[in-house]
Amino acid sequence: MNKNRTTGLAVAAVLSVALLSGCEAPSLAKLLSSGDQQAQPSAPASGASSEGSENTTPSSQQEEPGIQKPPSLQETITMVEGVPTVTNPTELSVVVNKQRALPADYIPPDLVEPNVPFPFDEKVEKRFMRAEAAKALEELFAKAQLDGIELYAVSGYRSYKTQRSLYETYVKTQGAEHAAAYSAVPGKSEHQTGLAMDVSGADAKTRLEEPFGETPEGQWLAAHSAECGFIIRYLKGKEAITGYSYEPWHLRYVGKEMAQEIMAKGITLEDYLSEDGTAQKQ
Ligand code: DAL
Ligand code: ZN
Repeated sequence: MNKNRTTGLAVAAVLSVALLSGCEAPSLAKLLSSGDQQAQPSAPASGASSEGSENTTPSSQQEEPGIQKPPSLQETITMVEGVPTVTNPTELSVVVNKQRALPADYIPPDLVEPNVPFPFDEKVEKRFMRAEAAKALEELFAKAQLDGIELYAVSGYRSYKTQRSLYETYVKTQGAEHAAAYSAVPGKSEHQTGLAMDVSGADAKTRLEEPFGETPEGQWLAAHSAECGFIIRYLKGKEAITGYSYEPWHLRYVGKEMAQEIMAKGITLEDYLSEDGTAQKQ
């Protein structure tokens, strides 16, 4: 896409977020019923991932100062047909990882499209997030714009079916080991919760690549995401706990209070929600 046009669109979209409040996002059902239903996440060429406040929308968990800590990992898991499955898929504190699946066929209840720039034009499911997370992403992008940082939303919600085809593509093109390091098997991806978004800068070379963490955009996200309720979910040095390689582009919405504590301590979501404060290694 023409760079000037891309930049212009990005500025227009972020300015409209900054200037307008309560902008209405189209529903996923409406968008998908109007055409292209197939999300088309593309496999990166090398070494890359598998990747997709104030809010009037009711959420499953309100952020209030001094709220009690959410239930622990141990309290939110149950066996379903032999699969350890989370009992709290709609909570902002849900933890989905290699040991914790979403209920089969889980679809988040309130998916909307955030009003932020995307590096593609297709109206596909990866534009979507849950309403509270989408609103927070708009705030994050507007803050970045004020600091001269240009961000793009690359991949958000993914259905079980999309994750399955993505994972299979990874195994075929990159091998099983690479797929295991960067891609979740279907049913175990945070992207299926609607609370995750992969984010990049304008430079496609570092999009979903580890060096993104060293770019001004990656550094800005590490420093400021928590202000809007997001954490960098897959931290460098925490691979044994999260089960995945470092992904400086993968933002996960948990709400401001939890995000600020997690990011300030440099810990994982698993650590934060473990009964003794330290997650078991995977
Ligand atoms: N890249 C993350 C781990 C996912 O596939 O959900
Ligand atoms: Zn991701």
